[in-house]
Amino acid sequence: MDALDVESTDTDGTLRWGALLAEALRASALTEFVIDLRGELGAGKTVFVRGLGRALGVAATVPMPSPTFTIARAYALPGPLLRELHHLDAYRLGGPDELEAAGFEEMCGEGRITCVEWGGRVEAGLPEDRLLIECHHERPLARAGAGQHPEPGVWAGDETPAGRRRLAFSARGPGARVVLQLLASLSNRASEA
Ligand SMILES: Nc1ncnc2c1ncn2[C@@H]1O[C@H](COP(=O)(O)OP(=O)(O)OP(=O)(O)O)[C@@H](O)[C@H]1O
Ligand SMILES: [Mg+2]
Repeated sequence: MDALDVESTDTDGTLRWGALLAEALRASALTEFVIDLRGELGAGKTVFVRGLGRALGVAATVPMPSPTFTIARAYALPGPLLRELHHLDAYRLGGPDELEAAGFEEMCGEGRITCVEWGGRVEAGLPEDRLLIECHHERPLARAGAGQHPEPGVWAGDETPAGRRRLAFSARGPGARVVLQLLASLSNRASEA
């Protein structure tokens, strides 16, 4: 399967899609995977990664903030197959060179799930086999006063338009295709339950 389009009606819905992807990843038995998240400011990329991380075993007591200012954050996972989650935000990176300089190679590989927000900014530095997730919200941002460019990554609950987001998943390689197929089956099962 190459593509799947779904809707999320609220923040919890996006967290649940992240958790469902964690389930699909586990079912795939893949031991490394890269997720490329795109979409407007405040579209829900960080929320999605949080849902994924919690379901992969990042304890609720461990904060999972946006990595916009630190560029990357790493979380230990309980394993045995998946041992680290890396959450990277490429919003402030100038391109693939800066991705490499940020240590991207060490964030990928055996035992690691690697999530890259604003992956389009560093596309040439990403592995081909990855899952692309495009997050969209339909209404304009209600943030920070008219005409101001909003700061990325620091959304408080009341600053973004609440509600519906569209999540468009597309697989860019064989591993991602397997995971996406599993995600589609799990979501069918969830909606039938
Ligand atoms: N359906 C929804 N899915 C995800 N987030 C939602 C939804 N409805 C409202 N929200 C709110 O929108 C905000 C999304 O913020 P988030 O940090 O995930 O965006 P982002 O895409 O990572 O933005 P940035 O590009 O600035 O990093 C949160 O405050 C969240 O509570
Ligand atoms: Mg973000």
